[in-house]
Amino acid sequence: MDALPASAKILLGLGLFTLLLPSVEPISCFVCSSSPTNVQCNRSNQTCPAILDMCITIIDIAGSTTSIVKQCSSSATCSAAMSQAAVDENGNGNIVNCCNTIDFCNLSGAETAAIHKALPVLSLFLLLLVAQ
Ligand SMILES: *[C@@H]1O[C@H](CO)[C@@H](O)[C@H](O)[C@H]1NC(C)=O
Ligand SMILES: *[C@@H]1O[C@H](CO)[C@@H](O)[C@H](O)[C@H]1NC(C)=O
Ligand SMILES: *[C@@H]1O[C@H](CO)[C@@H](O)[C@H](O)[C@H]1NC(C)=O
Repeated sequence: MDALPASAKILLGLGLFTLLLPSVEPISCFVCSSSPTNVQCNRSNQTCPAILDMCITIIDIAGSTTSIVKQCSSSATCSAAMSQAAVDENGNGNIVNCCNTIDFCNLSGAETAAIHKALPVLSLFLLLLVAQ
């Protein structure tokens, strides 16, 4: 880092800061309740209130019946739901997915909450490195 001129450090710092910004802005989520398919799930959407910073997708599977719920969620609620989600050996149960980087995330496009939790920590770490 010593080789970098001060201006480069500032630019690098600003770049990282910009990366952190999107999580502050409201996100938009598809909203649906008990839809059998993802396609039906994207008929309506909502810009989430600021405190609801994640989109949650809950897929309930019971035999041949699939029910998908999507809505805005707080990250705490979403992680809690995700940690309790489970599918048994017959493929029945529920799958929960949380995402906050992509507007209108769906299950296949979504990343896991674990990845999102790691990102801000990593960014902070890099920011501290740059600040030295
Ligand atoms: C669902 O979203 C996809 C991709 O954005 C779009 O192509 C499709 O038309 C949407 N379906 C409905 C029913 O809105
Ligand atoms: C979200 O909803 C608005 C209003 O119904 C609609 O105009 C817009 O196309 C929707 N966006 C997506 C990505 O489905
Ligand atoms: C999720 O979204 C991606 C990109 O819009 C699309 O290609 C994919 O088919 C979607 N997955 C489902 C299950 O709808």
